[in-house]
Amino acid sequence: MTDPASKAFYLTTPIYYVNDAPHIGHAYTTTAGDVLTRWHRQRGEQVWFLTGVDEHGTKVQRAAETGEVTPQQWVDRLVEESWQPVLATVDAANDDFIRTTEPRHGERVQRFWEVVRENGYVYSSLYEGPYCVGCEEFKLPGDLLDGEGEYGGQKVCPVHGRPVEQLAEENWFFRLSAFQDRLIAHYEAHPEAVQPRSAYNEVMSFIRQGLTDISMSRSSVSWGIPLPWDNDQVIYVWFDALLNYATAVGYGADPDSVDGRRFAECWPPDVNLVGKDILRFHAVYWPAMLMAADLELPRKVFAHGWLLVGGEKMSKSKLTGIAPEQIIDHFGSDAFRYYFLRAIQFGQDGSFSWEDMSARYTAELANGLGNLAARATAMVGKYCDGSLPAAHDFTAAEHEIAAALAETAEVADRAFGAIDFSVGIVAVKEFVDRVNGYVTEQEPWALAKDEANRARLDVVLYTICESLRAIAVLYNPLMPKAMSSLWQQLGAGGELGPIADQRIADVARWGQLPPGTHVVKGESLFPRLDDAS
Ligand code: MSP
Repeated sequence: MTDPASKAFYLTTPIYYVNDAPHIGHAYTTTAGDVLTRWHRQRGEQVWFLTGVDEHGTKVQRAAETGEVTPQQWVDRLVEESWQPVLATVDAANDDFIRTTEPRHGERVQRFWEVVRENGYVYSSLYEGPYCVGCEEFKLPGDLLDGEGEYGGQKVCPVHGRPVEQLAEENWFFRLSAFQDRLIAHYEAHPEAVQPRSAYNEVMSFIRQGLTDISMSRSSVSWGIPLPWDNDQVIYVWFDALLNYATAVGYGADPDSVDGRRFAECWPPDVNLVGKDILRFHAVYWPAMLMAADLELPRKVFAHGWLLVGGEKMSKSKLTGIAPEQIIDHFGSDAFRYYFLRAIQFGQDGSFSWEDMSARYTAELANGLGNLAARATAMVGKYCDGSLPAAHDFTAAEHEIAAALAETAEVADRAFGAIDFSVGIVAVKEFVDRVNGYVTEQEPWALAKDEANRARLDVVLYTICESLRAIAVLYNPLMPKAMSSLWQQLGAGGELGPIADQRIADVARWGQLPPGTHVVKGESLFPRLDDAS
């Protein structure tokens, strides 16, 4: 067991196939992981955030063939030109980026399967059945649909809508059936280990229907990690890819080495974040593999929904993929992060539309928070020469704001802790609305007309800026660029230190912004986009 005191909050995203460039579906998972890990960092926890790419398998091999390059050349180019840059585009602060073609991965994957084989869970047999290259998955007959139109008379994959291929290969098998009872017992004891609840139910019913052994190698594929005991076969791409969560943090490394210590600190993952399309791999095969190697199981697999286009999963193969930069070049990375996590209930499917995004950007970001910050900083500039006034004699109106802040921080922390982004975001947004309401009620511009109201004006301006301090901290994991700009405009950094060092548990403590700080009206946080459509 890991010592809880030294355990890092370890979160992973799926590793993405590099058969093509990223679209906003991939960016959605990475963004969610980034927001969540930034939140945990601001809780003061030690955090490790891993993402990366899945480079082996038939799908990538075939893409390279179409591009008339070697698979290695294909993945090197796409990783360098598209997959690594997209992290900066969405403003992800990952701690590591794993590529499955790296030696650290390949060697450790081989070691892992040696252990599983020594433990008696691998044997050789004939595999005959359907395979979907899009999913890189051996399908069960019940998984498939009858094709229509050009695919009439054929069985098609329900995710890709394309015919499956019939395979007949001499393969090595993983004894998945041996873990059926242990998996059921594990999930009965840990219902929180698969979320949301619908995903849990799906997984339980799949396991209860009975688990059959599954091929863990491929003989007709060359682009992969060779099986250590049979060099004519490569390890089935999923049974190579899933292991990235272990290899990247040092599985199999000398316990006294840097990697070995990282493994001790990170294992097991706190959250394996995935799209619902790959739930079965993560909630059935993956824990069974870990049991087979005597490793502790991840604490939670969270399966989010799909971004849809025309009611179907957005995908490059269906030519419905929107590149993240198409949206981010226009709205900025903060608005991208805000929109997808606020507008779609995490765990449900959702659609993207320019109209909806423009409407929310204008109402909630530009007119809501942006306007509040602009008004506050402009008024401190105008009425107080840019120096934050000291406040005495808070009235009921200010006590209400402070109480609302305490409630907001609590609700948001609970929601982010439960991976419920929209509830957390809405809590902060409602606090922003409340402070905007306070500004309207208190009319500081009217107070400023008469010097006799000076003390009251100071209290009101202080209250608005102090509220903005807390909003900046609470929204920093979600919108790090705009919030660090707000932090600077409030002059908060001098006394309080960097925004990323501010703790969630302390955010509601009223009166942290020291009087006398230099408040400046800077660049608009969310500039109006007249042509946003
Ligand atoms: N390589 C495998 C994962 C291996 S993890 C050990 C894979 N890659 S993928 O590139 O096809 O997709 C990975 C993930 O990208 C999905 O699980 C999901 O998190 C995200 N998405 C891809 N398309 C998506 C949507 N249309 N909508 C939401 N998320 C999507 O599967």
